[in-house]
Amino acid sequence: MDNQVIIFDTTLRDGEQALTASLSVHEKLQIAQAIERLGVDIIEAGFPVSSPGDFDSVQQIAKTVKNSIICGLARAVEADIKACADSLSVADQFRIHTFISTSDVHVQQKLRKDFSDVEAMAIHAIKYARQFTNDVEFSCEDAGRTPIDNLCRMVENAIKAGATTINIPDTVGYTLPNEFGGIITNLFNRVPNIDQAIISVHCHNDLGLAVANSMSAVQAGARQIECTINGIGERAGNCSLEEVAMIMKTRQEFLGVHTNINHQEIAKTSKLVSQLCNMPVQLNKAIVGGNAFSHSSGIHQDGMLKASNTYEIMTPESVGIAKTKLNLTSRSGRHVIKHRMESLGYQESDYQLEQLYTDFLALADKKGQVFDDDLEALLFNIQQQDCQ
Ligand code: KIV
Ligand code: ZN
Repeated sequence: MDNQVIIFDTTLRDGEQALTASLSVHEKLQIAQAIERLGVDIIEAGFPVSSPGDFDSVQQIAKTVKNSIICGLARAVEADIKACADSLSVADQFRIHTFISTSDVHVQQKLRKDFSDVEAMAIHAIKYARQFTNDVEFSCEDAGRTPIDNLCRMVENAIKAGATTINIPDTVGYTLPNEFGGIITNLFNRVPNIDQAIISVHCHNDLGLAVANSMSAVQAGARQIECTINGIGERAGNCSLEEVAMIMKTRQEFLGVHTNINHQEIAKTSKLVSQLCNMPVQLNKAIVGGNAFSHSSGIHQDGMLKASNTYEIMTPESVGIAKTKLNLTSRSGRHVIKHRMESLGYQESDYQLEQLYTDFLALADKKGQVFDDDLEALLFNIQQQDCQ
């Protein structure tokens, strides 16, 4: 089995769906170009039939981006697929992504159909999409809650109809990692033509398991992950691109897979998406949160000053963040104060460490985090007192 995991970014489709204010065409282009620089293999640029604005932005992105395959979303109906093909035809290479629900609750309650009607619609949609491109992805919406016999049957027929990528979404973020990995294993064991398509996964984060479920699927043989920058998307969001990319880099030996991602572009891309989408990134978010590479406890800071791998499993530079931060708090020890004073240009002979440390602790207890300016002000006060 190929050990490259294809990264399919849906920030501009699933992510954009969940924003409070819409992005302009120019902003979407800026994001698409940043995602291209990040080394993403496939960019889902939008849902062209949904509005003239979305059609236009998919077309602009398809014209401009050359190093990633551009994809558009379509329900399993001809009008949607035709709109996709029309907006994407300016690209050198494009993908049509068509989908229909397969779970009982969606088929019966949402679509008010039988499973066999849905199956016929899917087959027709895939064959129709193949008239425009050889690169057709088919998604079984709500696959996570679809009876496994129906899912196997749909996947086999979708591949026979010409789908080259089969996407298995956990649309409502319901499954557990071993359960979702088990679905993928079942597909590999039971669908006779499974090796004729790439198996993709698209996990939502309703229970905070989108990344874990995606990685479990990769371990079971999936070779495409659908994800978004900062994990933005419907409700609690999608699988976060930066997290899966850094999992596969940091644990490459254990997992035996890799991606094409340029990891050093991660922080920059995360900031751009956060700013343009007006979606702040939580401080403790893995990889790109403001605290992801900062250390506050004295014990950790002491360890970090001795060797950075004591408390960091990857370097901030590897994701494009300038450097590790050691926050000065009342948990910090003398060692880190001395180190910070050195980095501010002071020799040990310039001040009395014990006195400075006592004053620092008093201030830190009152204020929480102590900044470099505060430290220099403390030193100035000590010097003034000494002169009196
Ligand atoms: O969550 C989902 O099932 C989707 C599909 C359209 C792939 O976004
Ligand atoms: Zn989704």
